[in-house]
Amino acid sequence: MSMILVTGARGQIGSDLVRTLRERHGAEAVIATDLREPEEQAETSGPYEVVDIRDRTKLDEVAQRYNVDTIYHLASLLSARGEQAPDLAWEVNVGGLRNVLEIARENGLKVFWPSSIAVFGPTTPDNAPQKTPLEPTTMYGVTKVSGELLCRYYHLRYGVDVRSLRYPGLISYGAEPGGGATDYAVEIFHAALEQGEYTCFLAADTRLPMMYMPDAVRATTELMDAPKELLSVRTSYNVTALSFSAEELSASIAKRVEGFVTRYKPDFRQDIAASWPSSVDDSAARADWNWEPAYTLDGMVDDMLVHLREKLNVSASSCPVSRIP
Ligand SMILES: NC(=O)c1ccc[n+]([C@@H]2O[C@H](COP(=O)([O-])OP(=O)(O)OC[C@H]3O[C@@H](n4cnc5c(N)ncnc54)[C@H](O)[C@@H]3O)[C@@H](O)[C@H]2O)c1
Repeated sequence: MSMILVTGARGQIGSDLVRTLRERHGAEAVIATDLREPEEQAETSGPYEVVDIRDRTKLDEVAQRYNVDTIYHLASLLSARGEQAPDLAWEVNVGGLRNVLEIARENGLKVFWPSSIAVFGPTTPDNAPQKTPLEPTTMYGVTKVSGELLCRYYHLRYGVDVRSLRYPGLISYGAEPGGGATDYAVEIFHAALEQGEYTCFLAADTRLPMMYMPDAVRATTELMDAPKELLSVRTSYNVTALSFSAEELSASIAKRVEGFVTRYKPDFRQDIAASWPSSVDDSAARADWNWEPAYTLDGMVDDMLVHLREKLNVSASSCPVSRIP
């Protein structure tokens, strides 16, 4: 039986990924870890350990105690928090990854680690190619480029089977997003159902590559399931599903939530978002391991509204949601 350890398990991706992995492998086979204590029932539906990713000794001890063979390493500081605390972002993002890779090297573990579209910068051509000079202007982006090179190094030098995706901005109705420049695309749904209006921290025409969480979780498990010999990229694969501007997302929601309006008041996160490409070329992922996203913009908006209304207990009468035929 495969034993899997997930770091950053309480985060936006971790909480959904742990659920999927526990459905696939059994609750006892997936050890959720995070800096924070567990809170939700779902988090304690299997083993949970508090681990600071900067503490290699503790991480190693937990990995050995559970006989772990695979690590999904998600613990990180995201783009906006990274700009506010660059030293900590370096320590957690690069130091934490190095700890995971060292433990993987010593014990022959398989690793998944996400990179991000934040590796790109203002010099990146539009529809960001898989291979292009990486010149990010945020500390978060710098940690992701360094992380990609570390992964490739550990693969080439020590044969560590570490696999990676450059996630675009992710949208989900589970755990709240953790401080990134694409968080608006989650906040806007909550605001639509709870207040009927939203003040967006990005400009209306800011267009970014995005993905709905079920696609992101499936991309992750498909990459990890792919036969080793098919993988031609050992830095990190471009993957994408959607590319929309803030006003296009707002319009799609407004078609379904009567009277919903968005105002635009860009803050420091606009500069971060403006440094990223509006779309990415994921043809290498499509060719190597058959990546194909399932959700369109309207399909994602429909699904988000159904699940969020259920979660927030917002009735159709208090906030009418009309489905597009
Ligand atoms: N969410 C996105 O849109 C997105 C996009 C691109 C890449 N990513 C990447 O995916 C990964 C997960 O992102 P997320 O959105 O789930 O982030 P998140 O902020 O929601 O979750 C990160 C988790 O890491 C934990 N953490 C922070 N510092 C830690 C430490 N020192 N030790 C242990 N745990 C610590 C936090 O408590 C949190 O639960 C990150 O590597 C992130 O860079 C996310």
